[in-house]
Amino acid sequence: MAEATNKAFVTGHPVKHSRSPKIHGYWLAKHGIDGSYQAIDVAPQDFAVFVKTLQANNYRGGNVTIPHKEAAFALAERRDQAAEEIGAVNTLWFEDGVLWGGNTDAHGFAANLDDHAPGWASKGPAVVLGAGGASRAVIHALKERGVADIRIVNRTLARAMELRDRFGAGISAHGMAASGELLADAGLLVNTTALGMHGNEGLSADPAMLPDHAIVTDIVYVPLETPLLAAARARKLKTVDGLGMLLHQAVPGFERWFGIRPQVTAELRTLIVADLVPKP
Ligand code: ATR
Repeated sequence: MAEATNKAFVTGHPVKHSRSPKIHGYWLAKHGIDGSYQAIDVAPQDFAVFVKTLQANNYRGGNVTIPHKEAAFALAERRDQAAEEIGAVNTLWFEDGVLWGGNTDAHGFAANLDDHAPGWASKGPAVVLGAGGASRAVIHALKERGVADIRIVNRTLARAMELRDRFGAGISAHGMAASGELLADAGLLVNTTALGMHGNEGLSADPAMLPDHAIVTDIVYVPLETPLLAAARARKLKTVDGLGMLLHQAVPGFERWFGIRPQVTAELRTLIVADLVPKP
């Protein structure tokens, strides 16, 4: 049997916990596309060769996750604007034989809020907890959607200041101690830190300090309801979990590789939620 030519991948190290094969597999089946999307574990020292042989191996492209996002940025021949601004590539594809690198995390973040909290971008100042790679994607999305006052709060103030300098006007940098007064008039609180992930409990900001109209979102989705979201819900604030960001960030890649823009449906979400439950 001839090898399929509609091939895409997700690569990371490790990569076996990635939910992306389930997401793209669902869309391939739904659209009756004769294609494949595989998880491929590639060690950092092998990543450049992996990327340089993609075309020879008949790949249309794929997703790149930790720890390869910066290496993918360097190896892409052309990059979209989001990748340039975020400084990382999570999606690779070919156009006329040229390897493009894009970043779809900011799109995923904004589309998730569009889905579950329409009007989110005009609620007022945004407080962003964390100053790592995920924070850069969130800040890019907030800027793109016109949020004029973005307050980065981070344990290490110097990293927050680096992001302020990188993204420019409308951004301020703060240490943890400042977060109470920063929350008092905020319309959106975003957690981009690992706090609240399984085995890493602890609140990074207190939603009690937020005004009643504020929206709280977390990019962590295991557990689906993080301690931050639970506290915000108890305070009767609008909350949006991080799973939708994962689902929406997958959309542009699928469209580039397979030619159809797929939908993030309730059915897809249910499928992935079932997969988040730890297996005995
Ligand atoms: P990612 O690419 O997922 O954003 P990262 O670059 O490692 O990951 O960034 C992790 C973020 O979580 C950082 O903002 C980090 O704060 P520091 O810059 O001070 O390291 C934050 N973080 C991780 N563990 C934390 C903790 N226990 N308390 C407060 N912040 C924490």
